[in-house]
Amino acid sequence: MSPAPIVDARAIHKHFGHLHVLRGVDLQVAEKELVFLIGPSGSGKSTLLRCLNRLEEPSAGSVTVDGIDMLDPRTDINKARQRIGMVFQSFNLYPHMTALGNVALALRKVQGLPRADAEAKAQAALERVHLADRADHYPAQLSGGQQQRVAIARAIALEPRVMLFDEPTSALDPELVGGVLAVMRELREDGMTMVVVSHEMGFARAAADRVVFMADGLIVETGPPGEIFANPQHERTRAFISQIERH
Ligand SMILES: Nc1ncnc2c1ncn2[C@@H]1O[C@H](COP(=O)(O)OP(=O)(O)O)[C@@H](O)[C@H]1O
Ligand SMILES: [Mg+2]
Repeated sequence: MSPAPIVDARAIHKHFGHLHVLRGVDLQVAEKELVFLIGPSGSGKSTLLRCLNRLEEPSAGSVTVDGIDMLDPRTDINKARQRIGMVFQSFNLYPHMTALGNVALALRKVQGLPRADAEAKAQAALERVHLADRADHYPAQLSGGQQQRVAIARAIALEPRVMLFDEPTSALDPELVGGVLAVMRELREDGMTMVVVSHEMGFARAAADRVVFMADGLIVETGPPGEIFANPQHERTRAFISQIERH
């Protein structure tokens, strides 16, 4: 018997007014698995990620992360969210704080660590994203790729059990994408459970355990990257992949 999935989302529906954006999505993620989520713009990928940590409230369905029922009103949602790191397209660093300050602030605010402890942990997190030597730089002194790596350090410093990435390289100049993907691969090799929304098919081929293709608020098909890319079963998947690969 396989162990219980660390992320277990079932029959998720989400309505925004009359818009039915998620129409019954099931997503289970095993510990240490990297699930790569693809699909056309507007298919509901971001909304699904946001439902996993309850940044959006699903209209129906259940979400369990690391054994915690995320939708139970008795769940301490702020505490539960500490288990789920999230990285967005925009890095959202505080411009008036150094790289170290940005990472340490999260530790002080969320974990209540004293400054010295927070800074020691922040420095270790910056080392993991290969920015130890940029700790005292302000965001404006860092490239977009370095800023995104600080954002990743800020998330992993909190020692999450799962990391969600929503198009982490979409805002970057092409030459800066590789450094961010390299850090993500190292995280995966260290055993982090990850759900990644991205168009970086090369990364998916190299690092994903499973690709999930979504369209119109539903999962159309799922499988190992080799199968989904080389031999998609559904016409919509085929069309989407051939379109992406032309870029
Ligand atoms: N807060 C919101 N209010 C209203 N509609 C939204 C909101 N967030 C997303 N949507 C709509 O939900 C649909 C899915 O969006 P999204 O999850 O962002 O898709 P994707 O990430 O796959 O591009 C889109 O039609 C989008 O306009
Ligand atoms: Mg999106």
